[in-house]
Amino acid sequence: MSVVAEKISRSEELMSLEDKYGAHNYHPLPVVLERGEGVFVWDVEGKRYYDFLSAYSAVNQGHCHPRIIKALTDQASKLTLTSRAFYNDSLGEYEKFITNFFGYDKVLPMNTGVEAVETAVKLARRWGYAVKGIPDNQAKILFVEGNFHGRTISSISASTDPSSYGGFGPLVPGYVIVPYNNLQALENAFTDKNVAGFVFEPIQGEAGVVVPDEGYLKGIRALCDKYNVLMVADEVQSGLGRTGKMLACDHESVRPDIVILGKALSGGVLPVSAVLADDEIMLTIKPGEHGSTYGGNPLACKVAIEALNVLKEEKLSENSLRLGEMLRAELRKISSDRISLIRGKGLFTAMVIKEKDGISAWEVCMKLKDNGLLAKPTHGDIIRFAPPLVMNEVQIMECVEIIKRTVLSFN
Ligand SMILES: Cc1ncc(COP(=O)(O)O)c(C=O)c1O
Repeated sequence: MSVVAEKISRSEELMSLEDKYGAHNYHPLPVVLERGEGVFVWDVEGKRYYDFLSAYSAVNQGHCHPRIIKALTDQASKLTLTSRAFYNDSLGEYEKFITNFFGYDKVLPMNTGVEAVETAVKLARRWGYAVKGIPDNQAKILFVEGNFHGRTISSISASTDPSSYGGFGPLVPGYVIVPYNNLQALENAFTDKNVAGFVFEPIQGEAGVVVPDEGYLKGIRALCDKYNVLMVADEVQSGLGRTGKMLACDHESVRPDIVILGKALSGGVLPVSAVLADDEIMLTIKPGEHGSTYGGNPLACKVAIEALNVLKEEKLSENSLRLGEMLRAELRKISSDRISLIRGKGLFTAMVIKEKDGISAWEVCMKLKDNGLLAKPTHGDIIRFAPPLVMNEVQIMECVEIIKRTVLSFN
């Protein structure tokens, strides 16, 4: 057997293990990765790829960032988990750091993004009863069409995508859906005095990098103030430099009442999420009313501090803004009727593929993979381009060449 054949069988062996023993809740691109560094990942055959997904924007700081890995390993050999039954020597330091970093009174630490969303919804409901004066069990939370907030029963109850919520009912009551990017519809819904919060993504990620009109975020802020509704920004994917600002809400200089963070808060090394809010909101939850065994663990605290320091000190938001403009300008020059739209902000870009002759976004991603660039379709016809923010100009131009060559190869 040739060396190549042996190596190919290794990949297939690993994929078949997942297929046989793992739940079939994902449909991965057929590539088996074993190593990552910066903007690159390597498969088990040793082939190198540009990572254009960044683990759904969890790896904004690049794979295995040395400073983040050092924070992880230093703390891992000292103390990893105490639970919140006791104090630990890292949590207070982290809480002070992250609240100063984003300018909020308090933080509530969780692990995954969806847990932080869940936390924010609980906070909004609680604030609705304790502060706004909504009658018991009447609070409504507004969400938008096309949202994605994770996979728990609570989050899928807000989803408008049948593949998210279908067959999982009964769903959580008290959720109301309004159209995205529509301030008039939002105002109409806000006239209901039982609305406690409005949860939205400033730029919709899973929906396919959907960017709202300029002024939408400012408009939400004004309406939330007018109707005494909490503005709850889910920045799990759009935050932490991804769109060219630390938070996507910064594009319109808007300060939400509650900010939800996750993913890149750890630079991709372990699940770390957080909810930020001021005292009037955060202190409505009392001891014993919410929590998580791993939330605020010392390992997560040290890693998150370093992950945020890296974003700031390496000016990754600024890099994202600049290279994102460059990427979209170059992609728009590709002359192919297979591309129907290029949109995005910062290094958060979508290329919409017009399906033709049996060639869809999936086939384009397969060919991109063959050509050394990993990206994944979302919603069938959209390819999201979200490389690590540590990318440089030479690399982004090389990626443009790969994308161009790939798309034109189908003509
Ligand atoms: C906007 C948004 N919110 C929440 C989540 C859920 O995060 P997690 O998968 O860490 O639970 C995601 C994940 O993609 C997301 O994009």
